[in-house]
Amino acid sequence: MGRVTHADEFPAPEFHGGALDAAAMREQYRSEGLLESDLAPDPYEQFAIWFAQVFAAGLREPNAMVVSTVDAEGRPGSRTVLLKGYDERGFVFYTNYGSRKAADLAGNPYVSLLFPWHPIGRQVIVGGRAERVDPSETAVYFHSRPRGSQLGAWASAQSAVVASREEIDSAYERLLARYPEGEPVPVPTGWGGFRVIAESVEFWQGRENRLHDRLRYVREGQAWRVERLSP
Ligand SMILES: Cc1cc2nc3c(=O)[nH]c(=O)nc-3n(C[C@H](O)[C@H](O)[C@H](O)COP(=O)(O)O)c2cc1C
Repeated sequence: MGRVTHADEFPAPEFHGGALDAAAMREQYRSEGLLESDLAPDPYEQFAIWFAQVFAAGLREPNAMVVSTVDAEGRPGSRTVLLKGYDERGFVFYTNYGSRKAADLAGNPYVSLLFPWHPIGRQVIVGGRAERVDPSETAVYFHSRPRGSQLGAWASAQSAVVASREEIDSAYERLLARYPEGEPVPVPTGWGGFRVIAESVEFWQGRENRLHDRLRYVREGQAWRVERLSP
């Protein structure tokens, strides 16, 4: 299994015409690499191993992932959400069922999840199909959230255009009055989880000279086949 490594020196910034030069930014990845023989039998186990290593390496919010969906006109949309569960059934996140991403998924359940672990030279990309999480499972997660987040879920019609910040703050104030401390906050009807059932999972390990390792699990019936991709 490739050691978790990243460049120890921070590159000196270069400026071009007064602006920070993106083209001059160059990171050299020095990793032992990822071999087929290193991999766990299924991508969920492999994900669990890398997730623990990324956390141990000190990366903040390693559960932050970019979720990409496609709307009815074929236009993609991406946003960051937090992974809140993973096992052999799939990868779970929670959101507003009235949001743009939920509307996209209602028309096209295919989704991409990207874990941007580049500070340690890694990336995981999941391709799959999203299904709504059972309301009883959503309720367990909702009630584990801080009270402020529970009320926040009620206060936000996520993705809708609002007139002002005050509109959001006053909705929150009204909810504070409606659900005083000690009063349980019910799960909003339009809020819940999505579980992404993986069809492919790629593990990307940065290597020297841009000759990275890319190993992808592809689902074949009940089994997983592993293929290596050119970097
Ligand atoms: C670090 C981070 C974590 C986030 N986590 C979530 C989340 O778990 N669920 C969620 O609905 N939005 C989350 N968001 C907000 C989303 O990125 C996005 O703004 C929101 O879900 C609306 O997206 P949509 O209009 O494309 O549906 C997070 C944003 C960031 C930057």
